[in-house]
Amino acid sequence: MESKNTGSTKQVVSGSNPRHKAHYIGSNHTLALQDTEGYSLELSQQDSRLHSWMDPRVSSVYGSLVSATVADKGSIKIGFDDVPKVLVVDDHAASRMTASALLAMEGYEVIEADSGSIAVELVNQRQLDLILLDVMMPGMDGFEVCQLLKQSEHTRLIPVIFITALNDRRSRIRGIEVGADDFITKPFDRVELAARVKSLVRQKQLNEDLEHAEKVLFSIARTIESRDPNTGDHCERLVKLGKAFSEYLNFSRSQIRDLMWGGYLHDIGKVGIPDAVLLKHGKLTAEEWEIMKQHVLIGEQICQPLRSMRGVIPIIRHHHERWDGSGYPDGLSGDDIPYLAQVFQVLDIYDALTSERPYKKAFTKQEAISIIVEETNSGWRNPKLIQQFVEFISTDED
Ligand SMILES: [Fe+2]
Repeated sequence: MESKNTGSTKQVVSGSNPRHKAHYIGSNHTLALQDTEGYSLELSQQDSRLHSWMDPRVSSVYGSLVSATVADKGSIKIGFDDVPKVLVVDDHAASRMTASALLAMEGYEVIEADSGSIAVELVNQRQLDLILLDVMMPGMDGFEVCQLLKQSEHTRLIPVIFITALNDRRSRIRGIEVGADDFITKPFDRVELAARVKSLVRQKQLNEDLEHAEKVLFSIARTIESRDPNTGDHCERLVKLGKAFSEYLNFSRSQIRDLMWGGYLHDIGKVGIPDAVLLKHGKLTAEEWEIMKQHVLIGEQICQPLRSMRGVIPIIRHHHERWDGSGYPDGLSGDDIPYLAQVFQVLDIYDALTSERPYKKAFTKQEAISIIVEETNSGWRNPKLIQQFVEFISTDED
């Protein structure tokens, strides 16, 4: 394999091709294919990443997927631990290959697709870090692709940069509507493209780190649940019931999510409660009870640093308050108790009543409802909310 740098023109040679065909990317960003036989060439590590354009093995893998370029040492240049994978989607080969070449030179692993449908297929097969997406393509256009990806839980965090023509205001507005993260205009400015891609890939990694932190919290919560023989699959059932009831109450998407997360995380603070108290058989002493009550405050402290937990924290802290102010930790009453905590509490109690525990049988739906109504009459719950819950339970098939 050989190549030579001549100013702004890169010469790249395919090792698999004895005739040394090379792509040229000039300073004007045009692309040409030339026969380089006869040149005295030296191939740099960077340039070697480009040679796979011409590797026929790559182009055959995904049908109309055009090529894949593997970066090796490039990650050092762009400063990521792993080589980020970028998908370039454009039906125009020249424009697609220009973008790919620029990104490969920056050190990214580049995968190319020449249509929206291939792009969607690839997104599901590869762990991508960013997508550079052309707007106008036959069949599925860029907007459709972006919308699809941003609606899916699995792909919504992958940043999408739209490739638009200069001053194409309508495309930009439509792009924002379907969830585009950024735009770049053709012809590409290498420095601008590199800066935008790098910043979004970094942002994605930060988002993923946060997701990992969330996952750690969820697994701590599950571990606590499994330590407590009293609760069984309490959290799973709460999440299911919470989703159904919040849909019944026409909650917003974020409220539904908070309530479901509350199902998993409400008792995460029990991680800080000693086993002697948490797992004690029989009644807790007054002192032990005070220790047990701390779980709501410990839970709040654990989740506080994560911004994404903001909506769940009121549930964690206040799920043991009572309507008449006799609950803990703050003795809040009436509507001072955050609404989601009130809603969560009803679900928590209902599930506890209708499940079997070592110390009690499972109550029937009707028995559970009459206990909750009794508690409401003695002032512990929000009467209006309980009425809605009773209506929901009587119509809920499960
Ligand atoms: Fe609790």
